[in-house]
Amino acid sequence: MYLELSHLNKRFEDREVVKDLSFGLERGELLCILGSSGCGKTTTLNMIGGFLRPDGGQILLDGEDITDLPPERRPVTTVFQSYGLFPHMTVLQNVTYGLKFQGCPRAEARKKGLRYLEMVGLKDYAAARIHEISGGEQQRVALARALIVEPKLCLLDEPFSNLDAALRVKMRRELKTLQRDLDMTMVFVTHDQEEAMILSDHMAIMREGRLIQYDRPMEIYHHPADAFVARFLGVKDLIWEPDGRLLKVIRDGGAE
Ligand SMILES: Nc1ncnc2c1ncn2[C@@H]1O[C@H](COP(=O)(O)OP(=O)(O)OP(=O)(O)O)[C@@H](O)[C@H]1O
Ligand SMILES: [Mg+2]
Repeated sequence: MYLELSHLNKRFEDREVVKDLSFGLERGELLCILGSSGCGKTTTLNMIGGFLRPDGGQILLDGEDITDLPPERRPVTTVFQSYGLFPHMTVLQNVTYGLKFQGCPRAEARKKGLRYLEMVGLKDYAAARIHEISGGEQQRVALARALIVEPKLCLLDEPFSNLDAALRVKMRRELKTLQRDLDMTMVFVTHDQEEAMILSDHMAIMREGRLIQYDRPMEIYHHPADAFVARFLGVKDLIWEPDGRLLKVIRDGGAE
């Protein structure tokens, strides 16, 4: 396993929000963490990124225990749910920010920045200030800023939540292509089942701080662990055997 979380716990005051969470992913894989609002997805991502310290458990990256490393010492970038852009810089300056620390010459950084801006459909906005662009545009700037440094591990917290349906589809495609081309490992948080099904190599489904199911998307779709997972994936009805086993899954589309 390239990234391995084992028995992670996190509490805020008396409330346990992540409970004995364990899962992992291989290098070059995209894992989606799927679950309803408040189930602990962002908290989990923040522990992987080093922005929150777990109360218990361990995080291994490429065999190294990174549980206590500060964020800047982890080979990880994060696209935050709240973007975290630099308001005093232009769009292009935001995108190329991380390249400075990689010793990338200015002209090259500019060229690469424009290429990433083109990928997210914002090439014409390079000189704009952050407050001059919309929420969905800011979200795409945050995405370009994280991907441009080609991190070993990229954490994305609902990176398409502010985009309309058409743009979402386009960005999904771009992200998947880039991830494959650069062999990047990604942890992608979403509460959109369809997005998770399309993007992921593996899916981790969480509820109330716990891992409910971890598997390949099609496995989960065809063999949901319980009624909660089935309903969450858009399953309309379940038919049970008298002994309590799941017999049949009726989907929203009608057929099995
Ligand atoms: N800093 C904090 N202090 C106290 N409680 C917190 C803090 N951060 C998160 N929580 C609580 O922990 C729980 C999990 O929060 P988290 O942000 O991880 O949820 P999420 O799955 O990302 O939800 P969403 O889909 O709405 O983004 C929530 O009930 C939240 O209120
Ligand atoms: Mg969240």
